[in-house]
Amino acid sequence: MSDDCILVRRAGPLRGEVVIPGAKNSVLKLMAATLMADGEFLLTNVPDIADVQIMADLLAAIGVHTHHLGGGQLRMVNSGGLRPVAPYELAERIRASVNVLGPLVGRCGEVSLALPGGDDFGSRPIDMHLRGLEAMGATVDVHGGVVEARAEYLHGADITLEFPSVGATENILTAAVFAKGTTTIDNAAREPEIADLCNFLVAMGAEIEGIGSSTLVVHGVERDTLHGATHAVVPDRIQAATYMAATAVSGGEVVLRGARADHMEMLLRRFREMGLSIMPVDPTNPCAGLVVHAQGRLRSIDVATLPYPGIATDYKPLVVTMLAVADGVGIVTENLYPGRFRYVEELQRLGADIRADGHHAVVRGVEQLRGTRVDAPDIRAGAALVVAGLAADGETCVHGVHHVDRGYDDLVGRLAALGADIERVPAG
Ligand code: UD1
Repeated sequence: MSDDCILVRRAGPLRGEVVIPGAKNSVLKLMAATLMADGEFLLTNVPDIADVQIMADLLAAIGVHTHHLGGGQLRMVNSGGLRPVAPYELAERIRASVNVLGPLVGRCGEVSLALPGGDDFGSRPIDMHLRGLEAMGATVDVHGGVVEARAEYLHGADITLEFPSVGATENILTAAVFAKGTTTIDNAAREPEIADLCNFLVAMGAEIEGIGSSTLVVHGVERDTLHGATHAVVPDRIQAATYMAATAVSGGEVVLRGARADHMEMLLRRFREMGLSIMPVDPTNPCAGLVVHAQGRLRSIDVATLPYPGIATDYKPLVVTMLAVADGVGIVTENLYPGRFRYVEELQRLGADIRADGHHAVVRGVEQLRGTRVDAPDIRAGAALVVAGLAADGETCVHGVHHVDRGYDDLVGRLAALGADIERVPAG
């Protein structure tokens, strides 16, 4: 595990272009979906991040092999003969390991999965995933931190989620692809990454209606009708928001190539209220990207995280960082993970005036942060601390860089190319 640190100093306005890589929270699920069909798959716009390799290692243990072709392309080969077991030492390293559940129970009729790890921001149960599989006829047993699910064949079911959980929607969706009959998932999560997974499954031969909506209807197909496919991973809206936040606290004008306004409308609205100008590169082409322009001090706003299309919890550390240097007081409410304010202590070390309690944080903007040593507690918080460093006097040294590497494709190089004073300092 890397003990490198990222050293950031305040620089002038950022200028230039950054290409937004593919989304971590999509590519890992697409990779897991290759368990569902024999054949060859080509994924493009794949981010160069540590979690992709962790997922590749997990899939290799099950029987799907990944080849990095360079240029953001992954070739994946499923030659059948899968071993539907996700062992602890691989599964515990990423949350998305839970995404092998639906594909394996659907395709192989059985799965044994060590309960997943991932970011450490509180309890992350998978009860809704398991109830969904049971509703389709699977028997599920959880003991000693291992989930075992089996069903010779699943059957279609009408499933209403209590909460639009991303992971539960994905697992029920993938399992339903091979169920006999039709499955309806109501109150499904509708994050762009779920639509991306649906589109990939359709390219593989699945039959899914309602893509992008909160009601997904899946008509089951025979196990051997799915086949290999080629697919471009959707751009990462969280990485796009990171470069927006960096521009917001530094000033300047940056083109975010590939960023999709239609995937982050609510956030863009709130960022504009804070004083950012955000325009499409080409109003006739939603895939062309966005131009973000920042001048002067940001204005505070109140923000609450919600499932998509609301403000994603993954944006929150970035928003809190922007509020930390904005003019006024902002109240931030976390509706998904109450424990997800751990980075606040680190921002306080940089001089931020934040009071966090349970689901809420009150952020009083200060004129100036001061650089010091901080530790990244998770992926997004790590990136937010780097952004905070861009707004701090003196030197900010962000440790725990291995968290950032899990989800960011060359954050340091991309920010440096925009004119940020930033470098990665190797351990030792
Ligand atoms: C995914 C993302 C994560 C993001 C989150 C919410 C991946 C790998 N991770 O996580 O970055 O922060 O969506 O946008 O894509 N819950 C239950 N029971 C369940 C399932 C979920 O109680 O069976 C709760 C969770 O504890 C949490 C909330 O529902 O409080 C949201 O979880 P969910 O939408 O499932 O998030 P993940 O898929 O884990």
